[in-house]
Amino acid sequence: MNDLESYFVNNSGRQIFKWHHYFEIYDRHFQRFRGKKIVVVEIGVFQGGSLQMWKNYFGTEARIYGVDINPQVKELTEENIEIIVGSQSDRSFLRKLRAELPPIDILIDDGGHKMKQQIFTFQELFDKIKPDGVYVCEDLATSYQLGYGGGYKRRGTFIQFSKDLIDRLNAFHSEQNSFRVDGLTRSMDSLHFYDNVLVIEKRSRERPIATKTGTPVFAEGLSLPSKGIAYQLLFLVNKILQFFRLPSFKLNK
Ligand SMILES: C[S@@+](CC[C@H](N)C(=O)[O-])C[C@H]1O[C@@H](n2cnc3c(N)ncnc32)[C@H](O)[C@@H]1O
Repeated sequence: MNDLESYFVNNSGRQIFKWHHYFEIYDRHFQRFRGKKIVVVEIGVFQGGSLQMWKNYFGTEARIYGVDINPQVKELTEENIEIIVGSQSDRSFLRKLRAELPPIDILIDDGGHKMKQQIFTFQELFDKIKPDGVYVCEDLATSYQLGYGGGYKRRGTFIQFSKDLIDRLNAFHSEQNSFRVDGLTRSMDSLHFYDNVLVIEKRSRERPIATKTGTPVFAEGLSLPSKGIAYQLLFLVNKILQFFRLPSFKLNK
């Protein structure tokens, strides 16, 4: 049991509401921040117990911000825990939040879990996360639940939205002008899909490099005389295949 899980299991303070398997995920992605001067934002305060859990886990240098639509939670403010009241359905509130908060190390979206709430929050706050920070969206189960706007492969769900992020992550390898590298490609290091949770690790990235080392044993690809008619014919066939997005022949240059 890691420290977070044991805090949760032994908690007799303010109530915390979390899925049990989240604790292993949190510890895997959050432990490098422990004891550091960091900014943690959790959307969805509930009874305030998780904010106290983060405070206990990250230590006295961490500044914890809780965001919730319920104005009552304001009274849960304490040393190193600040509460901001507003709705994550409201882009103008999220933009105000982005302007007011310091750069964020970790953001946990555990708020209303509706599709627009999760998507708006990502769109407005992902850039506010530091280049080596972590973004967590919890309770993706709602992407499959009709009452939250979910449904298997239904347009507009957060899960469908996050599948595009997989493309964004790999955009350095695109050969199509309609799909190019953007800010997300350059700032996401990895996407970790777990049951019910997506964790995005940030990192500034340049175009990846691949080289060969060592001595070749076998010739690679089709060995054709490089400027011969057969080569040129296959080159042309490849162009046609690529146009129709079909797999093409690998030619030795
Ligand atoms: C699942 S609970 C949060 C649990 C808490 N993080 C914990 O671990 O104990 C969801 C919270 O999101 C809040 N919430 C619901 N809709 C919201 C919205 N549109 N904007 C911000 N918070 C919202 C609710 O008031 C509730 O406190």
